[in-house]
Amino acid sequence: MSLNPEITKALLQWYDYNARILPWRGNPTPYRVWISEIMLQQTRVEAVKPYYDRFMKVLPDIKSLAFVEDDLLMKLWEGLGYYNRARNLKIAANQIMDEFGGQMPADYQALLSLKGIGEYTAGAIGSIAFGLPVAAVDGNVLRVITRITGDESDILKQATKRAITKDILEILPKERSGDFNQALMELGATVCIPNGQPKCEQCPWDTICRAYKENLIDKIPVKTPKKKRKIEHKTVFLLEYQDKIAVRKRAAKGLLAGLWEFPNKEGIFSIEDMEALMDKWQVETYRPQTTKKAKHIFSHIEWHMTGFYIECQQKPNVEDFVWISREELEQSYAIPSAFEAFKAAL
Ligand code: ADE
Repeated sequence: MSLNPEITKALLQWYDYNARILPWRGNPTPYRVWISEIMLQQTRVEAVKPYYDRFMKVLPDIKSLAFVEDDLLMKLWEGLGYYNRARNLKIAANQIMDEFGGQMPADYQALLSLKGIGEYTAGAIGSIAFGLPVAAVDGNVLRVITRITGDESDILKQATKRAITKDILEILPKERSGDFNQALMELGATVCIPNGQPKCEQCPWDTICRAYKENLIDKIPVKTPKKKRKIEHKTVFLLEYQDKIAVRKRAAKGLLAGLWEFPNKEGIFSIEDMEALMDKWQVETYRPQTTKKAKHIFSHIEWHMTGFYIECQQKPNVEDFVWISREELEQSYAIPSAFEAFKAAL
């Protein structure tokens, strides 16, 4: 869906009157824009301001960030959360010192190569600080654009983001790309707001907005909730016979295909269930013990596991078991991390 080029002018005019005064807007150097955009990723503008001012006083440039003590960096970030964002800033500052002569690169791909900088942030720095003709599409922008075009695509899908980025690039004014991107975000943050009633009467696009005209404001943007992960219960059996542990190979297809695992069964086994299974496997048990519970999360499934550690009196007679030493378990057999807690129990 292409965007009406008329909307650019109305948006920039609106922004000229309504842009909030923010500490990083007065002097948008690449470093200042970068730090502000990272801070704004999970935190609201009002909450960011005092952190931003303090950060800039203590670490006014890329070099000071590259050499900052980790403890001080964490202290400056304390309360903003997601501490990896701060660690990545320092790593990227070192990349800039080593690979770009201490200057933030004025190039979209080079910005993307820096730790912690993804498409949105590269677009924001590229357009706001360097005036590059690149888009910066965050959740605000997706909401604003899907509403104005009446687009009911799922904004959580990459394909939607890609299509909207392409549409924005077609109407992005080359001489004011940074203002245009910020105007879209600003409109999303202050007028075309996500929860509660958007302030459509203040919007520069009220006459062309499809969602407004067609009463779809409550329905757009569409975000299809992620499917809940399926929970599977498993019981894992750590069988040991003469210092060797039983493992078996997983099927060649499907989850964790072809990797090794400790024998396990679907479901939560009681002691009686376990004893019945050991009878079937012809295991003479000796000192069976329950292990700690463990959980492993895959993208669509969660395994909730319990287990038994069982010393065997005789070698159990199960075809697909392979008996290996602890050393081999460590060095030669790939046991997926889903079983890590059980490996550690051995
Ligand atoms: N949210 C994140 N970055 C922003 C910016 N540069 N302007 C307005 N809102 C923002």
